[in-house]
Amino acid sequence: MSLRRLSLALLLPVMALQAQQAAPTLHEALLAARADRAGEPGVAAAFKRLADAHGTPLYIYDQAHIKGQVASLRAAFGPRFPKLRIFYALKANTNPAVIDLLRAEGLGAEVVSGGEIESALRQGYAGRDIMFTSSSKNPREIRRAIELGTVLNVDSLDELNQVQAEARRQKKQARISFRINPGVDPHTIHQINTGIAESKFGLHLQGGIAFKAYETAKGMPEVRIEGAHCHIGSQITETDGYVLTARKMLGFVKELKDKLGIRLAFLDLGGGLGIPYQDGQHLMSPEDLAKDLEPVWKEGVAAAGYEPTLWLEPGRFFVGGSGYLLVRVNTVKETPIKTFVNVDAGFNTLMRPAMYQAYHRVRIIGRTQDPVKVDIAGDVCETGDILAEGRLLPRAKAGDLAVILDAGAYGFSMASEYNARPLPAEVMVVGNEAKVVRRRGTMNDLYRSAKPAAAPRK
Ligand code: LLP
Repeated sequence: MSLRRLSLALLLPVMALQAQQAAPTLHEALLAARADRAGEPGVAAAFKRLADAHGTPLYIYDQAHIKGQVASLRAAFGPRFPKLRIFYALKANTNPAVIDLLRAEGLGAEVVSGGEIESALRQGYAGRDIMFTSSSKNPREIRRAIELGTVLNVDSLDELNQVQAEARRQKKQARISFRINPGVDPHTIHQINTGIAESKFGLHLQGGIAFKAYETAKGMPEVRIEGAHCHIGSQITETDGYVLTARKMLGFVKELKDKLGIRLAFLDLGGGLGIPYQDGQHLMSPEDLAKDLEPVWKEGVAAAGYEPTLWLEPGRFFVGGSGYLLVRVNTVKETPIKTFVNVDAGFNTLMRPAMYQAYHRVRIIGRTQDPVKVDIAGDVCETGDILAEGRLLPRAKAGDLAVILDAGAYGFSMASEYNARPLPAEVMVVGNEAKVVRRRGTMNDLYRSAKPAAAPRK
């Protein structure tokens, strides 16, 4: 063997090892993109693999992230609240694989529609493990919920009367709680504030309305009062709103027992736990929240003389950070005012920026040089279809990939087929594998019961 050959033979395994080290798994590539390392070649190769295999726009979910979030909530609340039950608010992400995962993790299902009830059932939930909250339930939904033995979270006296009538018809006792409007402002985006007095949700503590509801229900043999519920908003970043809410709700728990002799099996403080959407953003952790709630809870249950089970029902917290929306750059356009990076997804794919001016981080894949200030613009024919505004990002070219972070909650679940664009595909990443958990929509999906999409006319 020549010297050259010998040194090559010795070097090859070392080079292979280096290549191996340089090639992150899909899961690692997702984390690297979060850490602003999407420009690295190995990371770029992983995203390219995903785009080649599944096309764009593509929703990618990181299973490890979801499991980690469940574990962190449990670790914070479990030791402090021995009587605890955690639900998953399905509306954040109704992908069957996501629901399946969270059911397997032992969470209950919080649903807001007949459709979400069926989604939970399909993934193996029993009716008794479902909590049904909606301020506007139709008669079919009420009927189904009572049949299944789900907890109906009643939102008005009118609804209570309808539930009573339906339970009588079914000769069953309906399990109920009431959604309470505690009149607390959690300081979040206005459109997702739900517990303030002018919101459409719940029965107000104010004016004794909630009290009256319990008093009325107590006289109805057709209903079994199991709890009280509230949910003050979404993407909440500070603990103070929760603390105030817990204090008010526990005061109400005491009032119900003292004046009506009602003991609740549970008190549900809702979901709403925020997640960081920006680099370096600091916000309350589950640990902060559990720590701040603990003394108020202890004081409240001591005063009430008994302890209901604490229920929580976050959605975003579990799935938001797990989601990545992978898009491709169609064109780059410089105008006298701005530079637009036009991508192949829009507010039909991810509604949050257009609807709430929500901020989502964007990473250009495989590029690190020549930063320019750009707007990431969608492909929907509306001026408001901007996914990210005024971002300093490495210069992108047509055909490049970009990834939008924290798209796991209220991303696909709020997507539409506007502009006749079929819905994107969704994949779940486990380690180095990506499994399709919902296929890409097709033109036929847009036609549904009408005739299937015909071949285009010549
Ligand atoms: N429980 C109830 C009664 C709710 O209404 C909601 C969300 C949740 C739980 C879960 O909230 P979370 O933990 O995910 O914050 N589309 C908006 C968020 C709307 C939230 C609606 N209700 C967004 O994209 O920010």
